[in-house]
Amino acid sequence: MKKIIGYCLLLCCILTACPRPQPDIFKPTPYPFSIPPMFPTVVNIPEDNPLTIEGVRLGRYLFYDSRLRGYTGNNPDSMMCCATCHVQSNAFVCGMNNPKFPGGIPRGINGQPTHHNMLPLCNLAFNTNGYDWNGAIYPQNPHPHLRNIEDIVLISILAENELFSSPERCINTLKNISIYPPMFKAAFGSEDITAERIAKAIAQFVRTLLSFNSRFDQYMRGETMLSEDELAGWVLFTTEEGADCFHCHGSNGNLLMTTNMFYNNGLDSTFSDPMDRYAVTGNEYDKGSYRAPSLRNIALTAPYMHDGRFATLDEVIDFYSEGLQASPYVHPLMHQINNGGVMLTPKEKRQLKAFLLTLTDYQFIQDTAYGKPADLP
Ligand code: HEC
Ligand code: HEC
Repeated sequence: MKKIIGYCLLLCCILTACPRPQPDIFKPTPYPFSIPPMFPTVVNIPEDNPLTIEGVRLGRYLFYDSRLRGYTGNNPDSMMCCATCHVQSNAFVCGMNNPKFPGGIPRGINGQPTHHNMLPLCNLAFNTNGYDWNGAIYPQNPHPHLRNIEDIVLISILAENELFSSPERCINTLKNISIYPPMFKAAFGSEDITAERIAKAIAQFVRTLLSFNSRFDQYMRGETMLSEDELAGWVLFTTEEGADCFHCHGSNGNLLMTTNMFYNNGLDSTFSDPMDRYAVTGNEYDKGSYRAPSLRNIALTAPYMHDGRFATLDEVIDFYSEGLQASPYVHPLMHQINNGGVMLTPKEKRQLKAFLLTLTDYQFIQDTAYGKPADLP
């Protein structure tokens, strides 16, 4: 009996003395996302993918790693990642000056052009209306894989005219690059690499790309003055009897420089693009409609329009001035459609352009936090 009590005491001692194994506590660091002055206060960040320092860091690496599509050799024609097309110095479009993509229309790994012209990546966390030119990717979409930037990542990986790869191929490749398993652990709690985690991390990085330091922003914050021509251009931009741009591309209250809504702005009189807004809504009056892009950094993002038909801002301004095409689908906010445009004088065109050039944010395109990590090949 004494022996048994002895054993019991011993066992108790052992049990209390040995610390119980602690579960690994996973606590990533919240990313300090702050809303710039005079921006909307509603953000589109899904609840199941909050921004974390570790997630954003991983996303930045994946965005810039051309081994992402699952090829680790050194034939540049077989390598591709988001940054192949989304180039920071061009506000994240490929740009007319891109040696790989002459004319600024990108091509996927299979050499085929993308269906539409590029869209820049900035301030996307403030778009709650729908991504892509036709808004096919939106939060309330009944289709669970067409709702947000996470889904765009996976579509880009699969698309024949983009990365043309598969999640399995990406995962197998990343597993064997030594920096990644620990980075997935830091961001998501374990070293498992999954398609969902790849999509989440890249989407987190994309949401951190904020542009709010153009000269126009500085002027609006009272930090700098604009020239006489630039100010005259702004007045033209924001008045109906002037150039009448503000209804769709934002005004003083909206420094996004877009409403993120969809309009037919009178580019054509007949419509055949199977991927316009009509393709998403089935509403006939959406034929030839597209999202009005933000005019931030517009000087950097040529060519212009969903099909890249205009190479310069002068061509765009000439179009709005006297080149509009009538059709039953033109949006009612194109007030001067019956006159062919807003009829600007050469001086007014120059002033409007001077204003558009104040929207370039040089800090955004040089911010090293948005650039390629120095230790990536
Ligand atoms: C081959 C060039 C190419 C590659 C590679 C590419 N994109 Fe894009 N991206 C485009 C084009 C073109 C569009 C416009 C598509 C449309 O609306 O039809 C676009 C649109 C987007 C949009 C929507 C922007 C908006 O305002 O609605 C996001 C977000 C995006 N891309 C992120 C990514 C990410 C993340 C990657 C990497 C996984 C990537 N892209 C890879 C060409 C590319
Ligand atoms: C009724 C709404 C509306 C009005 C008014 C309007 N736009 Fe647009 N804008 C759009 C839409 C929609 C697009 C995209 C059309 C497309 O690609 O088919 C666009 C495209 C553009 C683009 C090309 C953007 C890019 O990234 O390719 C520029 C530049 C532009 N508009 C400037 C202006 C200027 C300057 C004015 C005033 C003279 C103006 N817009 C008036 C709706 C409008």
